[in-house]
Amino acid sequence: MTMCGIVGYVGNNSAKDMIIDGLKSLEYRGYDSAGIALNAKGKIIVRKESGVIANLEKKIGKQDFDGNLGIGHTRWATHGSPIRENAHPHLSADGRIAIVHNGIIENYLELKAQLKKNHRIEFKSETDSEVIAHLIGAHYKGDLVEAVRKAVERMRGAYAVGAIAADEPDKIVAVRKDAPLIAGIGQDSNYLASDIPALLKYTRDIYLIENDEIVIITADDIKIYDEDMTRVRREVMHVTWDAAAAEKGGYEHFMKKEICEQPEGIRETLERRLDDRGDIKLDGVELTKKELDAIDRIYIVACGTASHAGMQGKALIERFAGIPTETDLASEFRYRNPLVNERTLFLCISQSGETLDTLEALREAKRKGARVLSICNVVGSSVARESDDVFYTWAGPEIAVASTKAYTTQLVCLYLIALYMGRERGVLPESEYRRMIEELRALPQKAEETLKTENQIRELAERFCIKEQIFYIGRGQDVGTAYEASLKLKEVSYINSFAIAAGELKHGTIALIRKQTLFFVLASQDALYEKMLSNIEEIKARSAHVVSIAKKGNRRIAKVSDETIFIPQCADEVAPILAVIPLQLLAYHIAKLKKRNIDKPRNLAKSVTVE
Ligand code: F6R
Repeated sequence: MTMCGIVGYVGNNSAKDMIIDGLKSLEYRGYDSAGIALNAKGKIIVRKESGVIANLEKKIGKQDFDGNLGIGHTRWATHGSPIRENAHPHLSADGRIAIVHNGIIENYLELKAQLKKNHRIEFKSETDSEVIAHLIGAHYKGDLVEAVRKAVERMRGAYAVGAIAADEPDKIVAVRKDAPLIAGIGQDSNYLASDIPALLKYTRDIYLIENDEIVIITADDIKIYDEDMTRVRREVMHVTWDAAAAEKGGYEHFMKKEICEQPEGIRETLERRLDDRGDIKLDGVELTKKELDAIDRIYIVACGTASHAGMQGKALIERFAGIPTETDLASEFRYRNPLVNERTLFLCISQSGETLDTLEALREAKRKGARVLSICNVVGSSVARESDDVFYTWAGPEIAVASTKAYTTQLVCLYLIALYMGRERGVLPESEYRRMIEELRALPQKAEETLKTENQIRELAERFCIKEQIFYIGRGQDVGTAYEASLKLKEVSYINSFAIAAGELKHGTIALIRKQTLFFVLASQDALYEKMLSNIEEIKARSAHVVSIAKKGNRRIAKVSDETIFIPQCADEVAPILAVIPLQLLAYHIAKLKKRNIDKPRNLAKSVTVE
């Protein structure tokens, strides 16, 4: 099971309080049950509840037990339904070892069969994770570290595991492979967690645990070892984000807050890389003319929203840098034996840096000799660590499951990379480069202005929230925006929606148009404006309802459409950043009217660490 949160505490204070508090800080990740295990006077006490963490808190709040050491977990169901029995922590057969797990044990059925046969173990849950508790239990001879190591030798898959033993009330032992894990440094207390926000109230000094490392956490020490039990010296990472940045800051939902933070995110991502002369600094990423000339193909690979950014990236790199660029979904790339070699640049885009499909695609590209450059929002994430170079989005933590500010800042990174490459290769005329830098510099203010469409959007949402399906069409760079707008709507409102390149409509999908079928028509590309007018005529002739998104001053489109949302004037190339904003707002307001769980839509979690 995966997409969970892990929290562990060992120190002089109440483990119960810290763990519950830490789990609550991870609520935003999405979960369906939670649990805690404490070592209370040499006995392991486990409490679990399905549903919200408040259920668990209510349950244990009344009970008179506590300890100075424990582990906790929020679960998001994959193997086994979201019921209390399947919640973590899981116990060994004798109840003296407890574990929490994030990841997937691929060979759990095989292990389960062996444990049943050889140790007569009865399983209490339907999860893959329970095998870990029993494996450690089966190997335990008074040394938890040794037992964890032996268990890990048998496990295949991805995991971050925290384990405690009743007979060793001073330590948490944790191990990781392909699932995030950190250790937090406190005073007379130390911490374990899957994510930084869980610890922000307690410490800002952390160690990032690497693959195949084992960490032993006691109240006064954190020791990290590699798989051969050689001690590893790790630098302390000091977290600089503001805890308030992980809170809603007065907005009703994180999604709304994050939509409104886009002008700032765009500014940060841009200004940190542009000097006074308008030259681009790629954060120390070396991409010399010689290196660029040695690249004969770029693959941009990502999932979901990040892949829509990738679609824009392809257009930008080919246009500005003249390097053939392909985009692919990470889940497809992995399995199609792509034509990658030492002359390939693999450009990976991931907000979280923990998406398993993206990570595996990255590894596949590396195995084949490609150089890996990533665009990522999370410092120290797996994607960031495994890439040759990282170019960070400075969006700040993105908490809502539906990605908004990460998307627009990914686009900013792609502009910078494409322009840099074009200039370095000498294929982009200086005047064109200068024009684009001016366009980019104007974006934060234009994004502010675009946010002012909100009143119009709210009114549209009131009329359209009853629709059962909504179509989005566009041409050129508007196709990626149409895909992104459609995904946003589906995710948060649960309305069925469909995005298609406008020219493709007549090749089949046009059959779906009936009276009042709702179309959002993206017409932000001046170069394709006339074509979009024809598309509007085509769908209006079939009595559809058309809402266009166009640049200010485009009066003809307003005449042929039923209504028009205007974005500020800008160059076609940067229009995707502005055009998506009203459509993010539309998805948000429709979802709000439909009383959806906006920040944590059903069936979704913030980072998808499963295939
Ligand atoms: C949609 C959304 C997802 C992610 C996708 C990739 O709003 O958030 O489609 O974009 O799961 O996630 P990252 O970027 O973290 O790799």
